[in-house]
Amino acid sequence: MRDRLMAAEKVKAIDWRDGTLYLLDQRILPFEQTWRACDSADEVAEAIRTMVVRGAPAIGIAAAYGLVLAVFDRYAQGGDWQMALEEDFDQLVNARPTAVNLFWALNRMRERLYRLKNGEDPRAAMEAEAAAIHLSDREANLTMAQLGVDLIRKHQGNLQTVLTHCNAGALATGGFGTALGVIRAAYIEGMIERVYADETRPWLQGSRLTAWELASESIPVTVTADSAAAHLMKTKGITWVIVGADRITANGDVANKIGTYQLAVAAMHHGVRFMVVAPSSTIDLNLASGDDIPIEERDASELLEVCGRGLGNDIGAFNPVFDVTPADLIDVIVTEKGVVERPDTARLAQLMCRKRLH
Ligand code: MRU
Repeated sequence: MRDRLMAAEKVKAIDWRDGTLYLLDQRILPFEQTWRACDSADEVAEAIRTMVVRGAPAIGIAAAYGLVLAVFDRYAQGGDWQMALEEDFDQLVNARPTAVNLFWALNRMRERLYRLKNGEDPRAAMEAEAAAIHLSDREANLTMAQLGVDLIRKHQGNLQTVLTHCNAGALATGGFGTALGVIRAAYIEGMIERVYADETRPWLQGSRLTAWELASESIPVTVTADSAAAHLMKTKGITWVIVGADRITANGDVANKIGTYQLAVAAMHHGVRFMVVAPSSTIDLNLASGDDIPIEERDASELLEVCGRGLGNDIGAFNPVFDVTPADLIDVIVTEKGVVERPDTARLAQLMCRKRLH
């Protein structure tokens, strides 16, 4: 199955070539496919902040390459380059606050730096570490896709109509996707009748990115307004809600794109199963519960501009871009280390002690 999955992969958003990081600019998809070249940590941090690259695993991978670019610069300057590198590290780590994959990837890069031998040229080692992070994310996605398909098969064998939110596809990861990876694999296995993609306001990751990814592989996709979700569950025979995650805390609470929480509430009410698909780099055992997750708020203009025109200076806006779904609304979390049904603190701790499955 793995070979068939890899052959089906068409979309790619991150490319590292000859010491330059290329990012497919997600702000202008699906209308234009433009690659932005980044040659410095500054440029990578800016690309993460402005969402040229987005999605939890993808921003971790981009940041890792950003640190490689910083090492190239700082090492060439000589002197105490490791001290100077801290500035680049801080800039990258502060680019976005919610997805823990950013911190995970940068910390892994920093640990690699600490393991360099005295006086060793860091460039090749750091480049190899970032490439390993990139490759292992794609590998994790293939493993999760297989596990997700097995779960769907176990619970209901027939054709599925599923609902997804935001974009947790190839665009948001090192390749293939997390939630969309499972959906893609289930489609290849002949198990998907139709995918409903919430448009995902205000940034429209669903209608602009998820619909584009699925349609480009001829997977039947229908875009719906976010507010149509409960109605769809009641009338369209949705069997699963399948989403990604930006951070999963020790007790199994899940931060993901704003609107995920209300989907989970509606799914519970309608008896629709709720699956979260995320690599273990998204799990943050340092935080006890979702209450501790920093929730990013983005610019009010995302809500206060309609058809390019402002709604007026006397109108306020509150624009949190993530929310937290409590563990008790989640049927299953799928990771590359295995699946956790009915997640709780003990089960997640056990999972994190396991090795990767492939
Ligand atoms: O603001 P974004 O587009 O970076 O938010 C992305 C999401 O919320 C995704 O669902 C999540 O990162 C998982 S991506 C595999």
